[in-house]
Amino acid sequence: MTECLTDHSPAHASTPTVAIVGPGAIGAVIAAALHEAGRSPGLYGRTARHSLEVIAGDERIVVPGPVRTDPDNVPGPADVVFLAVKATQIDAAAPWLATLCGPDTVVCVLQNGVEQIAMISPYLSERTTVLPSVVWFPAQAEVDGSVRLRGEARLTLPKAPGAKRIVETLRGTRCTVELATDFPSVAWRKLLQNTAAGLMALTGRRSAMFSRRDVADLTRAYLHECLNVARAEGARLGDQVPEEILTGFQSGPADMSTSILTDRQAARPLEWDVRNGVISRLGRAHSIPTPIGDVVTTLLAATSDGPG
Ligand SMILES: NC(=O)c1ccc[n+]([C@@H]2O[C@H](COP(=O)([O-])OP(=O)(O)OC[C@H]3O[C@@H](n4cnc5c(N)ncnc54)[C@H](OP(=O)(O)O)[C@@H]3O)[C@@H](O)[C@H]2O)c1
Repeated sequence: MTECLTDHSPAHASTPTVAIVGPGAIGAVIAAALHEAGRSPGLYGRTARHSLEVIAGDERIVVPGPVRTDPDNVPGPADVVFLAVKATQIDAAAPWLATLCGPDTVVCVLQNGVEQIAMISPYLSERTTVLPSVVWFPAQAEVDGSVRLRGEARLTLPKAPGAKRIVETLRGTRCTVELATDFPSVAWRKLLQNTAAGLMALTGRRSAMFSRRDVADLTRAYLHECLNVARAEGARLGDQVPEEILTGFQSGPADMSTSILTDRQAARPLEWDVRNGVISRLGRAHSIPTPIGDVVTTLLAATSDGPG
């Protein structure tokens, strides 16, 4: 289903110009991977910074800035834009897309969910190519502003127009790129992992909570609901997937967090709709009952957006 394209040969002679919009946890890791390979990208964000710092194992990678914050003051369209703002921040990041994306730009969306193309396309010209991705690596902002990469940097992209340019851009870097012929199934599998992780934002607990029998039973039942919706949307996922995902949480590091839990702890808006609400929305469209998902989504929405 996937083709691994890790390649440590030198970059292609005509190196594309690269912009990173949203140089947070995920954006900073991609920026660091490119910088290490001698291809420093333009950094475009909300908070001005002189540089970015990424910690990967024993290594500390400093990516020179600045992080620019004025969309009216950019050099023009880039060949490649990595969009790494949260799904809740797309509207606010639209001015960057307007100035950094031309008809020949490839926008690679580094966000969770299965709706990236539908969400980003309205902000772009019809000729701009939008590529969704699955981001497999966890990365967390530390209190000193640096970003810790936990695990190996890895992306999966669909085998689709524009993917070759992203492969070229990341060739020879620490970020592995895989191309999937059945990308929707890969994206749905990752989404199922995210929906279950949403329970962590409700409890305020890290992955150790999945060792509780009651939480495990709830997670299993919730994942089966999600699996029904995923299959109705065309994802080819086996009956074993819910158990595999649950086992993954139970057997991984007990202190593993998730970006939706980090956002809750920082009292920031949550990506509840693209990660959990989507199951209820699409479930309704297919007349598939999602009683657990409906409760989880309602509570996450209220946690995120209030009032109260
Ligand atoms: N972190 C993970 O482990 C992980 C793993 C897989 C997938 N993901 C997904 O990847 C996406 C990015 O997550 P993340 O954890 O990297 O988020 P993040 O750390 O919050 O990064 C988002 C970045 O976007 C910036 N931003 C906010 N509004 C902006 C605007 N209007 N214009 C430009 N930049 C703006 C933020 O700036 P400030 O510094 O001002 O906040 C921040 O630097 C999410 O969809 C998430 O679900 C995350």
